[in-house]
Amino acid sequence: MTTVSKAMHGRVAVLTVDNPPVNALSHSVREGLANQMTALAGDDGVDAIVIACAGRTFIAGADIREFGAPPKEPHLPDVVNQIEAMEKPVVAAIHGTALGGGLEVALSCHYRVAVESAKIGLPEVHLGILPGAGGTQRLPRIAGPANAIDAILSGRHVKAREALKWGVIDEITDGDLVEAAIATAEKAVGKPPRRTGEIEIDGDAFGPEFFAGVRKSVAKQTRGYFAPERCIQCVEAAVSLPLAEGLKRERELFQECAKNPQAKALQHMFFADRQVSRIPGITKETPRRDIKRVGIIGAGTMGGGIAMNFANVGIPVTILEVQQEALDRGLGVVRKNYERSAAKGKLTAEQVEGLMGQFTGTLSYDDLSDCDLIIEAVFETMEIKKKVFGELDRVAKPGAILASNTSYLDIDEIAASTSRPADVLGLHFFSPANVMRLLEIVRAEITADDVLATCVDLAKAIRKVGVVAGVCHGFIGNRMLSPYGREASLAVIEGAKPEEVDAALYNFGMPMGPMTMSDMAGVDIGYLNRQGMGRENYETKAYDWVDRLVEQGRKGLKVGKGIYRYAEGDRTPQPDPEVMKVIEEESAKLGIERKPIPAEDIVERCMMALINEGAKILGEGKAYRASDIDVVYVNGYGFPRYRGGPMHYADTIGLKNVYAKIMEFQEKFGPRWWQPAPLLKELAEAGKSFADYDRENAG
Ligand code: CAA
Repeated sequence: MTTVSKAMHGRVAVLTVDNPPVNALSHSVREGLANQMTALAGDDGVDAIVIACAGRTFIAGADIREFGAPPKEPHLPDVVNQIEAMEKPVVAAIHGTALGGGLEVALSCHYRVAVESAKIGLPEVHLGILPGAGGTQRLPRIAGPANAIDAILSGRHVKAREALKWGVIDEITDGDLVEAAIATAEKAVGKPPRRTGEIEIDGDAFGPEFFAGVRKSVAKQTRGYFAPERCIQCVEAAVSLPLAEGLKRERELFQECAKNPQAKALQHMFFADRQVSRIPGITKETPRRDIKRVGIIGAGTMGGGIAMNFANVGIPVTILEVQQEALDRGLGVVRKNYERSAAKGKLTAEQVEGLMGQFTGTLSYDDLSDCDLIIEAVFETMEIKKKVFGELDRVAKPGAILASNTSYLDIDEIAASTSRPADVLGLHFFSPANVMRLLEIVRAEITADDVLATCVDLAKAIRKVGVVAGVCHGFIGNRMLSPYGREASLAVIEGAKPEEVDAALYNFGMPMGPMTMSDMAGVDIGYLNRQGMGRENYETKAYDWVDRLVEQGRKGLKVGKGIYRYAEGDRTPQPDPEVMKVIEEESAKLGIERKPIPAEDIVERCMMALINEGAKILGEGKAYRASDIDVVYVNGYGFPRYRGGPMHYADTIGLKNVYAKIMEFQEKFGPRWWQPAPLLKELAEAGKSFADYDRENAG
């Protein structure tokens, strides 16, 4: 197929890139553009050129699927240099998104015309690389180094209006885009070439202090990432070097990024995020149910947060509480959340009122009868959940979807307690539910396909990453968290201090260590859970010291003391000698001779526990893909995205090594908690990876 075609409009040649779905710069597109430029340069019948795209968008970047394969000529940097060097004016006609290599092509054109809805951006940093076809050299020249560095480091999509202010877009048209671009091209004929690369930057205004400020401002969100620092170095080069030298520097730094394992991990996550909505048995043809109104039971932190997601996208919500006071308090919290956004300039006062207008409070189940989806977020016991579902069964209209936000409980059992089990599923939001992107969609034994399909689409509509999980204790995320927490806690009783365990995992890239997390969530929650489990069902050695703390009233951050202590009004965890005393006493009681544990050993044990449980979940069919598990851990638990999630991380270690390590732990710590997942064993023995598993079982 010809991906770049030519049509003449008078003496203007219009090149149309047509490479669905997003006109990525696959080899055929690069070759098509290069060949056309060569031909058009010498064509006396052509005065000017327009580059436009068919379909939904302008070129959305390099073809990510070609990454990793040996690069084929012509390379993109050569193509863009060729376009910029043209003597005849070249105009980009932009609709949809001009991203990455797509923006680089546009920047190499001499003019850029866009429609109002168009966006531009350099999102390469999200893929662990940097704009490697002149983007880091040309964007600072045309938009100024400050705007350029903002775009390159954030990877954000910049709206056409803002890009117009930056000087990147020359004209926004509300008429026919290609016609407007042709008009611009015709006007440019005979004028001196207008090349982005020839713009001079006033380097004096962007000295070392400017870049020191940039580094400081992004230090927190880029912790552990490889590419952002290289992006900054590229812009430094743009400011201080002539174009040719800057481009050379960009190439070197691009190669460094491309070779770094983070690039592979981040590209894995790009596709993993998009795979999750592919569910075996669900197709475009599977019917969907209409969701026009959502009911939420419980106006606590969770219920309120869940409700906000729907209100935010214009779906009205009926929110039910048992008492007026609790309802008022819950709606008050929702209002405060919106007002906080307004104070940050993200919402106007009018919008806050508009959003609040989407909420209807009620104390009566009967008021849920017009809801198409009802989600309960009430206290986490089977008895209470069944009672709530009994009420829902009574009042909900036929065809309404009934969902539980439970974190652990058996959805099959909840479903079976109703007269309409096929309408029931789990929708497990993560706290704070209005912020966290992850949503586990728990498919019960007989959840109807259209119920599942509706919820998968709905997750997208409310801007969540919805991952389908099977019914098991803790589903994907919390089930894996349990052995991870166990190993962290064991490290403490064996000799590490809580702050050492936290530091080890923080330095690995987790947003916080498990001890701090436990304090934040409330240490008493695990305590209550264990009380209900019975001592034979968990590793008592890991938790007895924690339980003693809870029994002393140390319930965590909410009471100012837990595994750490906290100064009044301060959330910074501070090591507490009293806690160490408890830990040392408990170690002595167990006859453990406390020894320092190196940080890498702590990380290894926690990671192996996480991976092994992930493999069990996968082997039992409770997750469709290893990459789905990665999506859960990255989006719900802050696992460093640059490591690609726990399963991809396991692949980078090699499953043979992972299996051997787990067997070593079995030998050392006993078989009770270290049983290798059968699937892990099988893949390791076959010399395969989780990625191989996903490829072979792609559903
Ligand atoms: N290469 C290959 N495939 C791509 C792609 C790319 N650059 N961008 C998107 N796709 C694919 C997606 O995988 C998806 O495929 P499936 O339908 O098979 O799952 C399909 O195109 C549609 O993508 P989305 O579902 O994401 O569609 P959307 O409408 O929600 O979003 C988009 C469209 C904004 C373009 C979004 O896809 C996106 O952000 N893409 C990535 C853009 C990007 O990162 N570009 C930079 C690439 S790196 C580069 O360009 C560096 C360089 O110079 C060397």
